Amino acid sequence: MSLIIGVPRETFAGERRVATVPDVVVKLIKLGFKVSIETGAGNAANFSDDTYRAAGAEIAANAAALWSQSDIVFKARPPTLAEVGMLREGATLIGFIWPAQNPDLMQALASRKATVLAIDSLPRQLSRAQKMDALTSMAGISGYRAVIEAANAFGRFFNGQVTAAGKIPPARVFIAGAGVAGLAAIGTAANLGAIVRANDTRAEVADQVKSLGGEFVKVDYEEEGSGGGGYAKVMSEGFQRAQRDMYAREAKEADIIITTALIPGKPAPKLITAEMVRSMKAGSVIIDMAGEQGGNCELTEPGQAVVKHGVTIVGYTDLPSRLAKQSSTLYGNNLLRLMEELCKTKDGAIDVNMEDDAIRGLTVIKQGEVTWPPPPPKLPAAPAAKPAAAPVAAPKGHGHSASEPMAGSTLAIIFGIGAALFWLVGAFAPDAFLGHFTVFVLACFVGYMVVWNVTPSLHTPLMSVTNAISSIIAIGALIQIAPPLSSLTESRPDGWILGMAVLALALTAINMFGGFAVTRRMLAMFRK
Ligand code: NAI
Repeated sequence: MSLIIGVPRETFAGERRVATVPDVVVKLIKLGFKVSIETGAGNAANFSDDTYRAAGAEIAANAAALWSQSDIVFKARPPTLAEVGMLREGATLIGFIWPAQNPDLMQALASRKATVLAIDSLPRQLSRAQKMDALTSMAGISGYRAVIEAANAFGRFFNGQVTAAGKIPPARVFIAGAGVAGLAAIGTAANLGAIVRANDTRAEVADQVKSLGGEFVKVDYEEEGSGGGGYAKVMSEGFQRAQRDMYAREAKEADIIITTALIPGKPAPKLITAEMVRSMKAGSVIIDMAGEQGGNCELTEPGQAVVKHGVTIVGYTDLPSRLAKQSSTLYGNNLLRLMEELCKTKDGAIDVNMEDDAIRGLTVIKQGEVTWPPPPPKLPAAPAAKPAAAPVAAPKGHGHSASEPMAGSTLAIIFGIGAALFWLVGAFAPDAFLGHFTVFVLACFVGYMVVWNVTPSLHTPLMSVTNAISSIIAIGALIQIAPPLSSLTESRPDGWILGMAVLALALTAINMFGGFAVTRRMLAMFRK
């Protein structure tokens, strides 16, 4: 039996997104589902009823019809209590729910015996979950749109220009918070030609800022800003003071400030004071993306664009909805990936498998029973901390595992055997072999030390570059083709050797140039 996925029109004032798009409808139908769309649901995102119909969806005449026939409902914004009233008993709802902020909604949904998958509760740190991560896709869009809003409110070019009418300096953009949204804003502003500087309490993002064309500005105070799971924490008083000093300097210089700083479960940190706004040049712009959590700027009015002290302060809280076609498409794809996980059998039925970490994290209500908050997901064990004191000797008589240090006697035996082998080689092997053998042992040692010191994520490009370097064979082949001048008088190389040498040269050329080409491409992937 094929379940019906229903997509109602979003009713939140000003919301333009729709929870699925025609391209995704085709794929949902391939998974075995039927899809029903409320008439006009996609209009604000430029998807007409006809495009949905052409993709194979049915069009429901109104919200009541849509909600009452749907086994699964896709939403972007959390539903209103009136909408929950229309949800079929026992149906499944998928969308943004924010369970911590919406206890009444949770209760109403539970009393409908619904199963609710809150896309905002996805355990984002699981790499398998990334394809379903709508928070990331929406944050990326918001960061891009923040720069576009800034460009709209700013009275100058972003890039520097030298024209007959005069020299125009590039705009200076400062970004506070380099998470997903901040990084998207850095990339967009840098692509438009601005000088971009950025700060975050998590020092590990410095390289990402640089790779997108920005400059990381450090706070002159040593404190680790990571609060776990890739998120920030509330910083100490001392750090905040040093950060305020730095932000005050940046504010004076900046033409545009974009703030994205958030701390999960806490109000947004106030980073831009009224004093800093006053110190900015007239015509400057602040885009405060943290408006919904109280804002990063003291003068932000959430949802509004206001001008204070000559500075335009934009506190819009609907940035993804302002790029409705793009955000609906990405959101639709996130939900499609989720449906693929729920319907591995491709027969139009779903299995909300609570044994699966990603699905468990998302499921906030299962058949009317509240299952939020979930237990922490089982992540791969973190590397064990180095013991502070010398390890206690293992009790005798126990076999040791790979991770236990080797017993002194075993080590001595291995060394003894190794030394005896070396002596045998030294005593009996021919001179030529001895020379090659020494080089071989040294090469193994140097190679090991080099590889050991390279970050594991760079091992693949390292392999391809060593592949290219191993083409030293080319020198051997060249010597065979054209022997050194001194030996030329003695004899020409015979045909077989010449043929083999030419073949070796051809193969090694592929190895060499291919190795370098692949390395270049791989390193380029790490740079961007
Ligand atoms: P967010 O929206 O919660 O915060 C935005 C940024 O503000 C963060 O980078 C945070 O460090 C920064 N911030 C907080 N307080 C600040 C302060 N006082 N001053 C300056 N900056 C401050 O975070 P978002 O964008 O949702 O994700 C945060 C990080 O988590 C990102 O680096 C992202 O790459 C990572 N992440 C990792 C995932 C994974 O492990 N698979 C999945 C999703 C995100």
